Amino acid sequence: MNKFNFFNPTQIVFGRDRFDELDSLVPKDAKVLLTYGGQSAKKYGTVDRVLSALKDRVVIEFGGIEANPKFETLVKATEVVKKEGVTFLLAVGGGSVMDGTKFIALASKVSEDKFEGLLFNGFTPAPQDEALPLGCIATLPATGSEMNAGAVITYKNQKYPVMSPLTFPKFSFLDSDLTKTLPQEQVANGVADAFIHVMEQYLTYPSNAKIQDRFAEGILQTLIEDGPITYNDYENVEARENFIWSATMALNGIIGVGVPQDWSTHMIGHELTSMYGIAHGRTLAIVFPSMLRERKVQKKEKLLQYASRVWGINEGSEEERIELVIQKTEEFFNSLGIVTKLSHYDIKQDELDTVVSNMEKMGLTALSETGDLGLSEVKSILEQAY
Ligand code: NZQ
Ligand code: ZN
Repeated sequence: MNKFNFFNPTQIVFGRDRFDELDSLVPKDAKVLLTYGGQSAKKYGTVDRVLSALKDRVVIEFGGIEANPKFETLVKATEVVKKEGVTFLLAVGGGSVMDGTKFIALASKVSEDKFEGLLFNGFTPAPQDEALPLGCIATLPATGSEMNAGAVITYKNQKYPVMSPLTFPKFSFLDSDLTKTLPQEQVANGVADAFIHVMEQYLTYPSNAKIQDRFAEGILQTLIEDGPITYNDYENVEARENFIWSATMALNGIIGVGVPQDWSTHMIGHELTSMYGIAHGRTLAIVFPSMLRERKVQKKEKLLQYASRVWGINEGSEEERIELVIQKTEEFFNSLGIVTKLSHYDIKQDELDTVVSNMEKMGLTALSETGDLGLSEVKSILEQAY
């Protein structure tokens, strides 16, 4: 196991119908910017319920944060924060709204000429020591943004990670009732996203990290059990709550400490979202099976462990077990209505070169847990996924 520090200050308020506790979590004298997305939070009444729970605090609404939140939109929100003297941010939405609000939290404390720079630090923390505090009401279990310090922001049609220990939410509400208005395909996207968050931290090479491995395997098994139930049965609260907590646990840092990580599927998936607008979780489900096939030599030991411990595959040669578990993984995504072939998404095969060259422009030329996955391997993965 590698050396690590672990820090996660986010308070989780889990369970149904707990909005009245907002009153004790948001400072009484706060001037609040309430951020939300296109329409769901407003349309299904969540914004109104939050407003009433905030009692007589001054609240300014900022709706319209789009999926894959855009820099320009967030700059507008930051201008409101500065002009109105907002002191607390409250995000109501999925990963896009929570991520966008993290960006606003950072941008609110720097001058406008520094906004773009916030996007270009990669996974290095933003170079500032102050951000506005934020809280989240999570409405879509998927990204883990409700309990991590990361955000992904779209700028000039490319996705950029933004990191800062200052953007851990102070609190996040996880209420399964809020997720019951999700279209079925968003539930599927969320299961895929959470599943692959676990995999990018787990499926590398053995590092004797027993707790991380067993936590990861537990999350995967829960997603395999309760993801499809949540997808098919909107009345099953128990399954839905287990899915929600799986998605949060998948990317709150716990399973990633002290272990090698491989975020290649995310990096390729982000480019597919940028170019074709395919939803984030879906891009991952498309790329990941081909990624495993491409990397089955480097990932052999963990693939066999995954096959045995998560899917109970213990019979056959190593090669057969690995092929079978990749197939099972792909079929799992397919069972959630996700088509895992790029050809299905109105993409021409000769456009794959542009995907690769855009990744080169973004500097994504040495991916994987050891940095040995280059552009020719990315091309091969995309071809296998076609
Ligand atoms: O905009 P509205 O009308 O609210 O509709 C949203 C949106 O269209 C809708 N939705 C959300 N909650 C709903 C709902 N519809 C009905 N009922 C509800 N309760 O769902 C649509 C998708 O929302 P979005 O927030 O975009 O989805 P998701 O949570 O999957 O977030 C995706 C974003 O997160 C980033 C992605 O890159 C993408 O930009 N990620 C963030 C990460 C992080 N912060 O750690 C890690 C991830 O890997 C990911 O990259
Ligand atoms: Zn993701």
